[in-house]
Amino acid sequence: MSRRASLQVLPDPERLADALAPSFIELARAAAWARGRFTVALAGGRTPRPLYERLARADRDALPWGRVHVFWSDERYVPAEDPESNYRMAREALLDHVPIPGTNVHPFPTSLPTPDAAACAYESSLRAFFRTPWPGFDLVLLGLGEDGHVGSLFPGSPALRERARLVVSVEGAKPPRQRLTLTLPAINRSARVHFIVTGAGKAEAVRRALEGPRDPGASVAQGVKPVEGVGWWLDREAAALLRRAHGEAADV
Ligand code: 6PG
Repeated sequence: MSRRASLQVLPDPERLADALAPSFIELARAAAWARGRFTVALAGGRTPRPLYERLARADRDALPWGRVHVFWSDERYVPAEDPESNYRMAREALLDHVPIPGTNVHPFPTSLPTPDAAACAYESSLRAFFRTPWPGFDLVLLGLGEDGHVGSLFPGSPALRERARLVVSVEGAKPPRQRLTLTLPAINRSARVHFIVTGAGKAEAVRRALEGPRDPGASVAQGVKPVEGVGWWLDREAAALLRRAHGEAADV
């Protein structure tokens, strides 16, 4: 089955957030209606913050927060209160401002004594929550590193070859270096992935991912193939090196 990728380019990060928020809300409402809940793995880093802030400002009734379950695509192995924590960023930008029950927020357990212990515990919690050895999120949000990394799956990493684990600990190329990440099998079991990428610094990584030669070991995004497809949400700077017309759907 061909998986279709959609490509949306917005003038700047704020208008990207304004455009993506309704899509996120629609996916959440549709999943909650169809299956009683919406499961999303949030992206870390700086890029998604405007989206999270926009969702925090949405009408309280727009999202069925009581039926939304929030996970993370990856996390730095730092305390939850650490300024580098992806959990802390999402809490400050979104989760502290919406009526989501605490039991619906599922951060990586970075308080455990080792990264491997945290990865194993998170993997077990996913399998228990979804009641299957191979869970699939309704949506996974991902950023893109300038080096082509996705989540904390870095180019050339042995983690890219992982086929049995859902979550692994890695030594990343981007500080904080000790990280925890969903694996590609875990990401690709999801229904949909939305990449959120902004800034001129990402333009070459975007071009390689979308229009470069097939090389998922270097351009990790090329290995991201969720069940229903990928949405690329770019600002104009991140899309600057693309040849293809914007907004078109295309097979990947
Ligand atoms: C992280 C992210 C990482 C991020 C990219 C882009 O924990 O850092 O998961 O994969 O999405 O590095 O980071 P920025 O959004 O900060 O540019």
